[in-house]
Amino acid sequence: MTDTQKIVIAIDGPAASGKGSLARTLAAQFGYDFLDTGALYRRVALKCIENDIKPEEIDKITTVSADLSQNLHEKYDDSTLRNDKIGDMASIVAQIPQIRRNLDDFQRNFAKSAKKGAVLDGRDIGTVICPEADIKFFITASIEKRAERRTLELQSRGIEAKQSTVLAEMRERDLRDSIRLNEHLKPDHDCHVIDTSDMTPQEVLDTATKIIKDRS
Ligand code: CDP
Ligand code: CDP
Repeated sequence: MTDTQKIVIAIDGPAASGKGSLARTLAAQFGYDFLDTGALYRRVALKCIENDIKPEEIDKITTVSADLSQNLHEKYDDSTLRNDKIGDMASIVAQIPQIRRNLDDFQRNFAKSAKKGAVLDGRDIGTVICPEADIKFFITASIEKRAERRTLELQSRGIEAKQSTVLAEMRERDLRDSIRLNEHLKPDHDCHVIDTSDMTPQEVLDTATKIIKDRS
């Protein structure tokens, strides 16, 4: 990899595995563009909740996502998306094939139009959105550890959260995501798997940075 060569990094993994923190810090460190693709599904979910649209009202959800797909470049307030009600609704709307199609182009164009490099994190980046990515990471951790992290995260934001409830909801979301994404949620054959269960965010960043630098 030379300095002038553009690089695309795909980061996938389950909820609270640490993929978002890694993607954000890697992008900042290397000066690459960053896209949190989960936020796209969360933005559709938020609009559905605001408009009192139920999970079974597929036509209405599709209309919401089609409208939103025209405005995905607009700024949004990420803090309004970070709660488990929206995370759950996001994983429900993400099951609708048309919703995924409505959001695909934006993600692909994001990776394509980056000048220096792009880091995208989600569930199907290395398998569906950017199968040609230069580097693919699959970030994972035990479900107990992920539930513990998500509980602490919610509590630190003043949201009441019980670890056993968060764990049960996470199991449900993992199951829904794995059924829908089928083989796409699994690590791709050419990706670097990092189990972050016993690692700090800094250790994960150092491990990923070494893999990226060793590639050049
Ligand atoms: O941070 P966390 O992993 O909990 O959630 P997220 O990445 O914000 O994603 C919320 C939901 O959107 C996930 O549970 C997936 O169902 C869905 N999603 C997806 O289907 N494909 C993506 N590329 C990103 C998210
Ligand atoms: O994006 P994803 O849902 O996979 O996870 P995240 O938002 O990066 O991380 C979820 C929470 O776990 C955050 O509060 C992180 O600071 C924390 N975390 C951690 O404690 N240790 C790690 N190695 C990675 C993340």
